[in-house]
Amino acid sequence: MGFSACNITGLKTHLPGGGGRVTITVMQVTIIGTGFVGVVTAAVFAHFKNRVYGLDVDREKVKKLRLGEVPFYEPQLAELVRDGIKGRRLTFTSDYKEAVRNAGVIIIAVGTPSAPDGTADLKYVFQAVAALAPHLKEKAIVAIKSTVPPGTNEKATQLIKRVTKKKFFMASLPEFLKEGSAVTDTLKPDRVVIGTNDRWVADRLIWLHRPIGGKRIVVRPESAQMAKYAANAYLAQRITFINQIANLCERNNADVREVVDVIGADKRIGSHYWYPGLGYGGSCFPKDTKELAAYSRSVGEGDGLFVKLDELNERRIYTSMEKFERQVNGWEGKTVALLGLSFKPNTDDLREAPSVKIIPLLTNGRAKIVAYDPKAMPLAKKIFPYIFFTDDAYQAVAGADVTMLLTEWSELTHLRLGTIKRLMRGLWFIDTRNQYDPVKVRATGLSYIGIGRV
Ligand SMILES: NC(=O)c1ccc[n+]([C@@H]2O[C@H](COP(=O)([O-])OP(=O)(O)OC[C@H]3O[C@@H](n4cnc5c(N)ncnc54)[C@H](O)[C@@H]3O)[C@@H](O)[C@H]2O)c1
Repeated sequence: MGFSACNITGLKTHLPGGGGRVTITVMQVTIIGTGFVGVVTAAVFAHFKNRVYGLDVDREKVKKLRLGEVPFYEPQLAELVRDGIKGRRLTFTSDYKEAVRNAGVIIIAVGTPSAPDGTADLKYVFQAVAALAPHLKEKAIVAIKSTVPPGTNEKATQLIKRVTKKKFFMASLPEFLKEGSAVTDTLKPDRVVIGTNDRWVADRLIWLHRPIGGKRIVVRPESAQMAKYAANAYLAQRITFINQIANLCERNNADVREVVDVIGADKRIGSHYWYPGLGYGGSCFPKDTKELAAYSRSVGEGDGLFVKLDELNERRIYTSMEKFERQVNGWEGKTVALLGLSFKPNTDDLREAPSVKIIPLLTNGRAKIVAYDPKAMPLAKKIFPYIFFTDDAYQAVAGADVTMLLTEWSELTHLRLGTIKRLMRGLWFIDTRNQYDPVKVRATGLSYIGIGRV
């Protein structure tokens, strides 16, 4: 075990004392849950020469990871995992004792899906806590990275105390990475948020993150947890807001992209993160917005804004599809080419992806579906064995009456429009990501339908 030093002067926190030069023995880090967040976290910490264990109860997943195979697509991740394994810094296991007994920091990154009432289902978090508790070493730090509501750390603390007399610390390390750029986001995040009320814990977690970029923000655990929900609900709200504006643009001659250029020039608003489309999807925004509404209700606060956000977003895809159906004179008997299936580019994640709702709607409308996605097809074939898949976008549009762009993968945003027109049987080009210039599309003879632009 080596030694290293870290200068943490100048960091503003709510904690008294500290802020000097800290020297700590290299810590073993264990990540519990090797899903999207867990594998990225494990691989990045291993990349920075830590001894890292990744633990998952899914033995098939562990078997693959041990061979250096990442069970989902995320740019740069497989190389990082293989490097870690080759350098003997990264080990995957399903054995809690092996992974926890020497760990200075244990990071919980298991899933927290929505329960039927909208609350975050914390059963995987508490299962993980119960399983790790008997193996904790003295003064281990158990940090929850999963998105959980305030109050979770206290419940976890009580669970562990029932099992062990050893001294341990609970902390929060909320995660802000984005699928599709998860490795870069983890190496160079905007901020590393450390939720703790203990100076010793803060110093160690700052030390652990020392090679990682971004601002360090040390706050109490409850603030860290609220901030994660607040950030996701705010981003979700931005999407819903611009979708409402897009609806209005379609009622006149305005173009939502031009509206975004204008409002984005205002520094208070900013030009980033305006994505009119079919609504927000993915594994986080829908569930975190629902949880924020449920949490608001549980503490007797108004949940109006968050409930409305969720409601508008749930409805969005259906109202959009009804509008498209009218525009193309019904789906029946039509062949629809779907370009892009994942909920966003550079990932094969289909959780809450528009495609997953659109495919049954089109099938019920008696359309034939031909689909192409650069990475998500293996998973999509399992969910939708009854639709057709092709090896590229041009094959998908050949003979189609309607082409519908669903995901802005870069290979799908620069298609040769003349070739598309020639290959298609019909004329409808529905651009749900506003990636194409309506004038150029129409110049080929195709009929353009976008979002918030006529
Ligand atoms: N995916 C994202 O983009 C993202 C971003 C920020 C935060 N988050 C949050 O991070 C958490 C994890 O999300 P994810 O997308 O990585 O989830 P995931 O579903 O991809 O992975 C969760 C993993 O945990 C494992 N697991 C479940 N119970 C376990 C247990 N008791 N012990 C060990 N392993 C167990 C599962 O087998 C699975 O592999 C969630 O709370 C999520 O809200 C996700």
